[in-house]
Amino acid sequence: MTSVNRYATLWENFWSTTTGAPGEIFWDADPAHAAQQDLALFKGHADPHLPLIDLGCGNGTQTRFLATHFAKAIGTEIAPAAVEIARAKNTAPNASYRVLDVLNPHDAGVLHDELGDAHVYMRAVLHQLSPSDHATAVQSIERLLGKKGILYLVELSSEAEPFFAKLIAEYGPPPGLARVFQHQITPGMLHENNLKLLFPSDRFTRLGTGPSHIRTVHTLPTGEVVKVPAFYAIFRRQWSHGT
Ligand SMILES: C[S@@+](CC[C@H](N)C(=O)[O-])C[C@H]1O[C@@H](n2cnc3c(N)ncnc32)[C@H](O)[C@@H]1O
Repeated sequence: MTSVNRYATLWENFWSTTTGAPGEIFWDADPAHAAQQDLALFKGHADPHLPLIDLGCGNGTQTRFLATHFAKAIGTEIAPAAVEIARAKNTAPNASYRVLDVLNPHDAGVLHDELGDAHVYMRAVLHQLSPSDHATAVQSIERLLGKKGILYLVELSSEAEPFFAKLIAEYGPPPGLARVFQHQITPGMLHENNLKLLFPSDRFTRLGTGPSHIRTVHTLPTGEVVKVPAFYAIFRRQWSHGT
């Protein structure tokens, strides 16, 4: 099985067995605490008249919120089941959802032909891919951005692994995280030091980067909400070399 099919199968299984039970989707934080904090970091760089693509949008929770700040929002997903949930649960007049595998640059080009330049928002998606697939994902992103779009990504940082180890040792795995493991989804790692290699300065201008977190839906017995260490980065394509 190719890696592309592996992601499609794993994530379709995950999303098609989702029941809507509280806590089931570990990262499904209220956008007031998730996309809102991200937006504050990138909105100064992003033309609101452009469409925004929420790449790997899951059930569309963040997409619907982001749609209120841009001309339109398009949530894209590898899993048709996620697209169905998003269409049912997160409707907005200017939000739509469709299947797109970030590892298919050709399809990304077709979407760019349809939409024109677009911003790309990615929350907790790149680290789900094997490091050997990151360069292909970046090719797709480049096509979607075109000249005017900006990329905002927020991904688990290298501190996430020891954070999870400590969390599980102290409290056991949160149910939403246990469900991810039950589906044989094993997050890879996007080390923050690899950003320079993945987004080289002859192809991208880095507009910002810094520490962040991915807020989850899990509350500890202490009353504290689990927030996984992460980092964010904002890029624009570099056009000075005739790309
Ligand atoms: C951790 S979830 C984050 C979902 C969403 N961004 C959010 O913050 O709620 C990762 C998402 O990436 C999607 N995904 C995984 N591989 C993908 C691929 N190759 N192309 C597009 N989406 C993918 C999964 O289906 C899943 O919904």
